[in-house]
Amino acid sequence: MKEASPVAGDPLQAKFTVVSPELYAYLVAHNPAPDAVLRDLAEETAALGSVGSWQVAVEQGALLTMLARLLGARRAVEVGTFTGYSAIAIARGLAADGRLLCCEANAEWAAIAQRYFVRAGLDGRITLRIAPANETLRALPATPEIDLAFIDADKKNYGVYYEELLPRLRPNGIIVIDNVLWKGRVIDPADRHTSTRAIRELNDRLLRDGRVDTVTLSVADGITIVRKR
Ligand SMILES: C[S@@+](CC[C@H](N)C(=O)[O-])C[C@H]1O[C@@H](n2cnc3c(N)ncnc32)[C@H](O)[C@@H]1O
Repeated sequence: MKEASPVAGDPLQAKFTVVSPELYAYLVAHNPAPDAVLRDLAEETAALGSVGSWQVAVEQGALLTMLARLLGARRAVEVGTFTGYSAIAIARGLAADGRLLCCEANAEWAAIAQRYFVRAGLDGRITLRIAPANETLRALPATPEIDLAFIDADKKNYGVYYEELLPRLRPNGIIVIDNVLWKGRVIDPADRHTSTRAIRELNDRLLRDGRVDTVTLSVADGITIVRKR
């Protein structure tokens, strides 16, 4: 069998498995299979064109469900809902009386999400706020009652979302941040784009933030899991 071996002789690189399309298909096949609701949503989202790639990957959805379950999450917040895939994944992991607040600025995509929340039987447990996420977050109670948050909206505001969410997160609560590797652009010094700089800035800030523990993983486009101390 051909080894998916990275750079030979480099002990750091030797830890990694290069994920070919075939290996990725295997990985997906060894995650919980998306049900008909998520499959149809993925198909409808893909038909939107290039924005379709914004949707979280299958294994990220499974991870979000798993984290929500592990936390026994009753209060969850998503920043950047798009057509609803990650929201459904989070909501499915919530405790029986758990609720998810979704922040999405685009009414057209929110309408698709809402349609699928209904189809998934989750519309009674998900509140979708169509507004700039910073406004929605600022209006939330200041008390630390959020168990799980997922940040996946406009990158330039990542730091703002993090600072709004952290005080509202309960100790041992988790914030999952998506796209922290930004397709590798975070290590390109020539890339001075606002989004790239904002992601870099938050990645660096998290390392120095004594309020939290973090782990950064190369899942999809990179995720960081932040635990409040
Ligand atoms: C990468 S997509 C989210 C993908 C989603 N998590 C999923 O799995 O399908 C980012 C979303 O953030 C939304 N967004 C961008 N800026 C926003 C803002 N300021 N407030 C709220 N939502 C925003 C976009 O409209 C888009 O739907």
